[in-house]
Amino acid sequence: MTESIDRDEQNDLHQESIERAATLLAQSHYCIALTGAGISAESGIPTFRGKDGLWTKHGEPPLNQYEQFSDDPAAWWQKVAERRRNPDELTATISQAQPNDAHFAMAELERIGVLKHIITQNVDGLHRAAGAESLTEIHGCTTLLRCIECNMRWPFDEIPEVFPPRCDDCGGIIKTDTVMFGEPIPPDCLQRCYVESSQADCVILVGTTAVVSPAADFAFAVGQRGHPMIEVNLDPTVITNYCAVAIHDRAGELMSRITAEVKRLLANAAS
Ligand code: APR
Repeated sequence: MTESIDRDEQNDLHQESIERAATLLAQSHYCIALTGAGISAESGIPTFRGKDGLWTKHGEPPLNQYEQFSDDPAAWWQKVAERRRNPDELTATISQAQPNDAHFAMAELERIGVLKHIITQNVDGLHRAAGAESLTEIHGCTTLLRCIECNMRWPFDEIPEVFPPRCDDCGGIIKTDTVMFGEPIPPDCLQRCYVESSQADCVILVGTTAVVSPAADFAFAVGQRGHPMIEVNLDPTVITNYCAVAIHDRAGELMSRITAEVKRLLANAAS
């Protein structure tokens, strides 16, 4: 086969996999999804790993971010306020990003009752903006604040007047909802992911290297019970060989085609 097969040939190559993935989704009774940075790449947000990834370019952030916050929350909030006033490139990119076809396709799969829950590792809020409702943002969301004691969340609309801000309900310290390196995943998120993963009979992984726990573990648990895993990702990953179907290309086009095929199958079954 020639090196650079053209787009049409690539599409034909995917068509059979798209039909197999759509069949598994349409046949499932409780399908969940795990998404990662790759689903937001076409919205202009850089991924973390891979040749152009943030961690690849700049190295991973320090693993003691949460320890630094805990040691001096007021000083940490000073830095947050400064970054808010002078956002870096990534912060500005995330705040201006819009959902892409993949986010909308997954919201449509939820609307037609096929996709029961999305666990996203992304903090960009784009699934929520695309209309997804059954959603766990396991690494938090940049547009929210969270009390570290009672997990109450609020929109992050303005910089608090007092550092650190405290929860009116329980007096706990409030931080940004985004989960830092070294920070425990909020228990309400873990609980929801466990409940959703435990009842799933199919899982679709979109735009993730699936190397970060516990997020990836919730997807693997579905596969380990013998249920199909579907991978939609630009590149092969550590789970590719364990998937019933693995399609390697851009999520925007693939998820749109998979969703259209699911709707076609369901319409045929109903007629
Ligand atoms: N369509 C589909 N997949 C894509 C696209 C695209 N347009 N562009 C990139 N990808 C794929 C890459 O091939 C890669 O496998 O998206 C994946 C992104 O992987 P990572 O950068 O590792 O991101 P993610 O899996 O979300 O990382 C998980 O790691 O550092 C933590 O908190 C961070 O939530 C993040 C977690």
